[in-house]
This record gives sequence, C-alpha cells and structure tokens, in this order.
Amino acid sequence: MLRVVIHPSAEAASLGLASFLARTLRQWPTLVLGLPTGRTPIPLYRELVRLHQRGRADFSRATTFNLDEFAGLSPRDPHSYHAFLRRHLFDEVNLAPERIEFLNGGARDMRREALRYERRLAAVGGLDLVLLGVGGNGHLGFNEPAATLVPRTHLSTLRPATRRANAWLFDGDVRRVPRRALSMGIGTILSARGVVLLATGRAKAAIVRRALTGPVTTRVPASLLQLHPNVVFVLDREAASGVASS
Ligand code: GLP
Repeated sequence: MLRVVIHPSAEAASLGLASFLARTLRQWPTLVLGLPTGRTPIPLYRELVRLHQRGRADFSRATTFNLDEFAGLSPRDPHSYHAFLRRHLFDEVNLAPERIEFLNGGARDMRREALRYERRLAAVGGLDLVLLGVGGNGHLGFNEPAATLVPRTHLSTLRPATRRANAWLFDGDVRRVPRRALSMGIGTILSARGVVLLATGRAKAAIVRRALTGPVTTRVPASLLQLHPNVVFVLDREAASGVASS
C-alpha cells in the first residue's frame, strides 16, 4: 500500500518522521536502516540527534546502510557522502561503528566493492526500512532515469542535472562533482520491508506528482515505488502541491 502523509511545513515533516523512527527503534532495536544523503534529510537528522540527546532515540543495536557514495572519494574526503553522514548523524548518535555500513568510494575495484556491499546486505537479511530522498529527475540513491535499471549495487554514471544538484557539497563547483557514483540498486531498495520517501519544497512538487500518479517507468525511478507493498511518502505542503487531491 502506498500512503501519503502531508505536513504543513518541511520542519513538521522532519519532526514527524524523526519521532516515527525513534518509536520504530524502540519497537525494533535491531532495525536495519537504509539512509540517504542530500539537503532534504538534514532537518530529519538534526531532530534524530536531538531525540537521541534526550534519551528518546537509541541506535545502539541498529545497523545502517547508506544508499550511495561518489566514486573516487575516500570516506575521509570532506566532500564524500560518508563525511556528510558523519557530520549530520554518525558522530552525534550511539550507532556502533561496526554496524555503520557504507560504500567505499575510494575502493580500487568498484565491482568488488559493489559485491562486498551486497554480501553485507545479504548477511543481515536485507533492509528493514529504507529512507529515501528523490532527485529532481526522479532518481533514487544514484539510480538515474534510464531505459533499464540495475537491480543491485553498481557503479552509476551521473546525469549533468544530478551533478549540478550535488554541487553544493563541493562549494558550488559542479566541475568538482564526480561523474560516477556507487549506488544501491533499485531491486535492493524495493526489497526493503518498508520504504519512506521524504520530499519537501516546491522544487520537488512535479517529480512527486510523477512518482505518485504517473506511469510506472524506469524513466522515473521513483515511480517504481508504486509497486512496493509498504511505502509512505512524507511530504510538506509545497512538495505535495502537484498532487491533485492534496
Ligand atoms: C542526491 C542523492 C539522492 C538524493 C538526492 C536529492 O543526488 N544521491 O539520494 O535523494 O540527491 O537531494 P536533495 O535532498 O538535496 O534534494
């Protein structure tokens, strides 16, 4: 079933989702969680940190798998997604370092790195819950629109628009954004037992509408979520503004 939850503001959407996650962690402390990067989840991570500091979000037994990472950037690189997640979440909550799973963009052999990640995912029985943002072109993780999509972890070539959308992580300089990235595949995302997509702001309204109400097509990877039995779109009013009945 696909559900849509609309909050009055981006802040309210992030707070609502953070408290849902804190509750879920209380019920299922060993949760295996997929995590996104991007500007959208920053207020969500901030609230999770706040809940953790107040003793209301315990990550001690949880496992996290990040969705994606730029190819060619080591985890230590300040522009890597790994560094982003360290800053916004890992350094601030009580996740056990050995249960933070991340694609290594600095790996010499990308195919081997993708296989390693798949083995790690298989070892824990897959994702319980995956949190997603959405790219303006409908990408999930770095699964870019295409005639065919790759089901499992792979090396993806980034579209110019995606590189532009990520330039903020590189002081606004799109030339420094890597051309390729490792990403969990669409099959892995759709195999998660639960999916939550967070989208906020007017700039996401058109793609949210296409994802929710458009045809299911690999040209809009987020539209494939319509096939999932347990998915929630958490939106603010602006991101929901293109959806007819909202
Ligand atoms: C990047 C990430 C995606 C993310 C998207 C949206 O390209 N690879 O996982 O969903 O950006 O980012 P933002 O939240 O900044 O709009």
